[in-house]
Amino acid sequence: MNLLEAYGAPKGPWVARSRTSGAQYIVPSEVARPVTTRRKRTEAPPSAAASTGATAGASRADRGSIAVLGGGNMGLALVRGLLARDPKAASRLVVSSREAGRLRERMRGLNVRVAETNSEAVEGAQVVVLAVKPQILPGVLAEVRASISPGATVVSIAAGVPTSVIEEGLGVAAGAGAGSGAGSGAGAGTGVVRAMPNVAASVRASATAIARGRSTRPVDLERARGLLSAVGLVLEVEEDLMDAVTGLSGTGPLYLFLILEGLSDAGVKVGLSRAVSSELAIQTLVGAAQLVQATGEHPAKLRDLVTSPGGTAITALHSLEKSGLKAMLLDAVEAATKRSQELGARWKTPSAPPPTAGESSASRSPP
Ligand SMILES: NC(=O)c1ccc[n+]([C@@H]2O[C@H](COP(=O)([O-])OP(=O)(O)OC[C@H]3O[C@@H](n4cnc5c(N)ncnc54)[C@H](OP(=O)(O)O)[C@@H]3O)[C@@H](O)[C@H]2O)c1
Repeated sequence: MNLLEAYGAPKGPWVARSRTSGAQYIVPSEVARPVTTRRKRTEAPPSAAASTGATAGASRADRGSIAVLGGGNMGLALVRGLLARDPKAASRLVVSSREAGRLRERMRGLNVRVAETNSEAVEGAQVVVLAVKPQILPGVLAEVRASISPGATVVSIAAGVPTSVIEEGLGVAAGAGAGSGAGSGAGAGTGVVRAMPNVAASVRASATAIARGRSTRPVDLERARGLLSAVGLVLEVEEDLMDAVTGLSGTGPLYLFLILEGLSDAGVKVGLSRAVSSELAIQTLVGAAQLVQATGEHPAKLRDLVTSPGGTAITALHSLEKSGLKAMLLDAVEAATKRSQELGARWKTPSAPPPTAGESSASRSPP
């Protein structure tokens, strides 16, 4: 009996539900695939990235057109994720950036429409994704506010920018999402959702948190989930927890890059070639994560299961405890969360100007 069977999973493909988030994971022996909604998983996404965790299937709420403003790393990752999930999505996608010419080059071969301007891109779009740098955002909001369709959902992935700033920039009145009127601009019925993906969106394995603002309706959350599940796992949190999300999963790839680097070096130290060491380290990290995901167990319980009396695991554990690995991770996430709070404070003070371009490129984005 293997570990999954020990946890009562049927013989593969394994299906498990996370006890914390309720997300379902389908694990065909070598891969965990999160299914974040209650929809049935259809078929595997056609790309190699399928093995990294992007969800299958789109909800009924995300059948309208999608405008992605900003064709940089994250905009492109999202477009690629949507196309990998459903190649037919190309006809529903429109992308805009600072320069349409350069963007066309970047989007070559993807078959998506490139708009000349942001305003043109948002016209008629059911979902508008704000994938520009935070310091660019106020200008982009002013540019598109009159062109956004009534009833549209605006999903911002700009790190640290509160929903209230976006709602204000679009002229969405507080509670507009609930059906009340709004002033000039995007106006009545436009709902804003804030999202924090991470860099693994580029391989469709992001851990993304979404948060609602005052304008957000249930349909906005459903559309945001449908959209972002194309690039990985999506969970909802309260907006005031977005700094914590930034500290954990937004910045998280960095911690694991460092751990991988350390493990790879360690393998070399004990005699493995760099190539073999790196491959073993990567697969060990992926496999351990998949096991925790599939069983839904607390990692400490799984750790106990692999720790035999007098064995290698307990010996290594002693060494890690002496070095304070867990305390280091607690410190790092807490420090990154505090830094995110500091950077975000500027947006929350009405009189303060948004961060400058210099600040932004240095430290605001990506997290
Ligand atoms: N990268 C991450 O890991 C990560 C994670 C979470 C959240 N985010 C957030 O995602 C957003 C995008 O980040 P990114 O890493 O994709 O940045 P990026 O690669 O620099 O992409 C930003 C894109 O916006 C375009 N742009 C500039 N001015 C514009 C305008 N006025 N209208 C429309 N597009 C314009 C840029 O075009 P040019 O290249 O021509 O200037 C560029 O293609 C940021 O707000 C960031 O905070 C990023």
